[in-house]
This record gives sequence, structure tokens and C-alpha cells, in this order.
Amino acid sequence: MTLRILSIFGTRPEAVKMAPVVQALARTPQVVPLVCVTAQHRQMLDQVLGLFDIHPDIDLNLMQPDQNLASLTAAIFTHLDPVLASLKPDWILVQGDTTTVMASSLAAYYRHIHVGHVEAGLRTNDKWQPFPEEINRRLASVVTDLHFAPTDWARQNLLRENIPSQQIIVTGNPVIDALHAVAHMPATPDVLDFFKHIDIPYRSSAPADKASQDSPRLILVTAHRRENFGKPLEQICSALKKLADIYRDGIRIVYPVHLNPNVQEPVHRILDNYPNIILLEPLDYLPMVHLMKHTSLVLTDSGGLQEEAPALGVPVLVMRAVTERPEGIQAGTVRLVGTDTDVIVTQACHLLDDRQAYAAMAQAINPYGDGKAAMRIVDSILAAGS
Ligand code: UD1
Repeated sequence: MTLRILSIFGTRPEAVKMAPVVQALARTPQVVPLVCVTAQHRQMLDQVLGLFDIHPDIDLNLMQPDQNLASLTAAIFTHLDPVLASLKPDWILVQGDTTTVMASSLAAYYRHIHVGHVEAGLRTNDKWQPFPEEINRRLASVVTDLHFAPTDWARQNLLRENIPSQQIIVTGNPVIDALHAVAHMPATPDVLDFFKHIDIPYRSSAPADKASQDSPRLILVTAHRRENFGKPLEQICSALKKLADIYRDGIRIVYPVHLNPNVQEPVHRILDNYPNIILLEPLDYLPMVHLMKHTSLVLTDSGGLQEEAPALGVPVLVMRAVTERPEGIQAGTVRLVGTDTDVIVTQACHLLDDRQAYAAMAQAINPYGDGKAAMRIVDSILAAGS
């Protein structure tokens, strides 16, 4: 028996997390592996496809400048359905909570195709936060046949929604598989040039006690959530400016800025031309992982960094009101600080100034798995069959 398995993804983080799964499927003789990208993101997706050497069978190329949610959703339905009709997969695999996930899983359901959902079961139980991801992942769960939960907490969320326990498999999150693979890749000349550009000495092994690093200490920032567009993002930028003024040469803030125009405009307006704030284009995953290894502190509103930084022992302050990833908070490496300027500054200063407080947070833990999630996902689909 061979199974035709179509992996569908559209954004950079989905590609990072699906890459180990796509590679594991390609190594499995009983599988005909197929890949369709919606390209909900264009440039940011292509970086990751190149790094993991993934060549999609189908590229829908759907990104529009400043696209809105309804038109993107409509375009996915319109363009994916003929692909499903012609490729006739036994299973589709989707990952996470994007518009691509929500629309693709429903399109597969319409054609009676089994759906496997990677990173299933994350919940805030607040339909507006994160917007629209909380609803995307809930909708995907309703039509999913196999739920690959990263942790037992995620499994419990699904059980509470009356999903049968035999359909839920705790696999870990393949982001850890991807992180391990990329963290062991040697720095390329491009990565070394990048470290020169940001004026941070490159170290092949990151120091164990990041609090004791010579200055400047590196602070890595990402912020791009829709619920933070407008005033919250401006408050975040003000906090970065204050931190830059307080510590001057003692810190270097590195912020790869998402290509969404709603992010680009305020960030460049408020933070351009600050000597110790470096605004960058979105980074390829390889330099991003090397940068994380050199980082003393992460300030973010994104989901993936809340999973990756704890695995590298880097404290994370999450600039959101709620998180669907409480595991890092429970383990003590992640703290939720919201988007108030003064709260962000106070919490960051506390960690930068108090070695004990810093050491308490800077522990390498891996609540999201052991790096073998992709293999478990493939094995579970084979066991389920067509
Ligand atoms: C999407 C996901 C979010 C994920 C994020 C990761 C949804 C609803 N949200 O949000 O869960 O965390 O991706 O980045 O699916 N753009 C480019 N080039 C690119 C990528 C984006 O120019 O390579 C610009 C385009 O103008 C695009 C805009 O960014 O219209 C927004 O992209 P979109 O996919 O709609 O939403 P994100 O905010 O990126």
C-alpha cells in the first residue's frame, strides 16, 4: 500500500515546522510525498524552501501586496480545489493556525480527504487573541482526522472539545527537529558577514552563562501580530527606544522587521537611525538560529520564538496579553509582559540588571519535544492508512 500525502503550507513559520516532516515523508518508501505551497508569503517562504532544499510540486503563488484575510481565504479555496482534484491525495498535512491551514483543511474536507494537523490543540480560548489564528486553529480541529499535539497540555485542550483520544497523538513540535538540524549547520560565509554587519563577534559555541557576556548584550526582537497593529506596536517601539537610551553601548537591539506594511511603517518611523537599534529585513532561518544562540534576551509577540528560545536557554518576554503556549511560562523561561511601554522596560531592565533573576530564567528546557516529532507524525499516518 502506498499513501499519497500532500503537505500544504504558505508562510515562513509553517515551512520551518513542516520541513522536517516533508523530509521524513520523502524518506518513507510507502509514501508518495507531495508538496503544495499557497505562497501566502512569497519572499519569506522562499528563503526557507531554499534552506531545506524543498521543491514544491505545486506553487499557487497567492500573495498579494497588503492582502486581506477574506480575499486570501477565497483565493485558497478557488486555487487549491483543482489541485486536490487532480493530485487525489489520501491525506493532506497542514501546520499551525494560518489562513492557509484553515482554508486548506476545509477544502480537503469538502473532497473527503483525510486531514492531519501538525501543532494541534493550542488554545487561548479568546477568539480575538491571537487574531485570527485562534479561530483558524479551532476550525482546523473540527475537520481534522489525526491531531498531532506538541504537548500533553495541547492534548488536554482537544479532549475537552470531545475529540476522540485515539485521534490525538502527542508528537512534540517539529520546530525542535528543525532547530536541532539548523543549529548544527556550520555558519556559512553569509552568516559570518551578517555578524560583521551587526558588529557582534561570532562564536561557534554560545557561552553557557549569557549574563556574563561582554557587552554589548544582544536583544533580539520580533513583533508582527495583527492584534498588536496600531497603538500596541507603537508602545513596543517606544519601549525599545527607552531601553536603547538606558543601556546605550551596553546593549544592541536587533529587530528583523516583518514585511507586512502594517509593521514596516511604524517600526521604521519610530526606530530608524537609533545607533544601538539595528532594523533588518526578515532573516533567513540559518542566520536567525545563529543569532538566537548569541542572544541574551528575546522580546517577541511571535509563537515560534516562544518555542525555540527556551530550547536554547534564552529568556523570553512575550509582548502579548495571552499566550497559547503556556509550557515555557510554567517551565520559567518565558514571561508574559503585555504591550505597555513601561512594563516592558521594567521587566527587561530587571533581567538585564539582576544576575540572579536572569539566571533563574536562562535554563535550557525543551517542553516542545525531543526532535523526533516528524518521525512520529509519519509513523502515525502510516498506522492509520488510507
Ligand atoms: C501570517 C499568519 C500568522 C503568522 C505570520 C508569520 C495568518 C492569518 N497569519 O501573518 O499566523 O504568524 O504569517 O509571518 O495567516 N509580505 C510580503 N512578503 C512576504 C510575506 C509577507 O510582502 O514574504 C507582506 C504582504 O504585503 C502581505 C502581508 O505581508 O500582504 C501580510 O501577510 P499575511 O500572510 O496576510 O499575514 P501575516 O501578518 O504575515
